Amino acid sequence: MAKKAKQAKKIQKPQPKERGGESVRILISRARLQRRITEMAREIRKDFPGEPLHLVGVLKGAVFFLTNLGKQIPGEVSFDFIAVASYGLGTHSSGQVRLTRDLDSSIEGKTVIVVEDILDTGMTLQYLLRVFEQRKPKRIRVAVLLDKPERRIAAVHADYVGFTIPNEFVVGFGLDYAERYRNMPDVGVLSLGADSSKAAKA
Ligand code: IMP
Ligand code: MG
Repeated sequence: MAKKAKQAKKIQKPQPKERGGESVRILISRARLQRRITEMAREIRKDFPGEPLHLVGVLKGAVFFLTNLGKQIPGEVSFDFIAVASYGLGTHSSGQVRLTRDLDSSIEGKTVIVVEDILDTGMTLQYLLRVFEQRKPKRIRVAVLLDKPERRIAAVHADYVGFTIPNEFVVGFGLDYAERYRNMPDVGVLSLGADSSKAAKA
């Protein structure tokens, strides 16, 4: 047990090795993620007993969160995906949001739960909520795995929050840095080595 905990805290060096000294320190372990997501699923179902729920995942970051959450909400659940681009390749937002893939089906009259990986400045969710509200759903709720309240610019409220985290750049469990690290089963804080400091500023 103690050995396992020690292993989980070990600094992970990314593969391949050319990635200029990047390292990831685990912030939220896979076990904590699973426990919290199970609680969130119960909370959501308790708030809407017997009601069909339509989960809308924001690609690509929310994929693992949505699949884990969706499996644990009992009763009628459907899902769909939307994609937006809000970040470039670095760790700083461009502040601009653009729809790159729309939903497959109408959300009119549905109870929609928007499922997002992280609420950061809030620009992405503010944009999406505006788009969705025009489509006349019965109601909209927002579920985010992570919340970084220190960085908020847009006044967006999440109804279900997995973990509130400090203002650090995190990767794993769907979250990426330049499309990498999404497959890490834990959430960790990314440190860039000297070689990649230029990429972070871009
Ligand atoms: P917002 O529009 O600033 O709230 O940012 C939302 C999007 O930015 C998320 O869906 C993520 O794709 C990305 N993002 C924000 N913070 C992080 C982070 O710490 N790591 C990885 N992606 C992030
Ligand atoms: Mg991203």
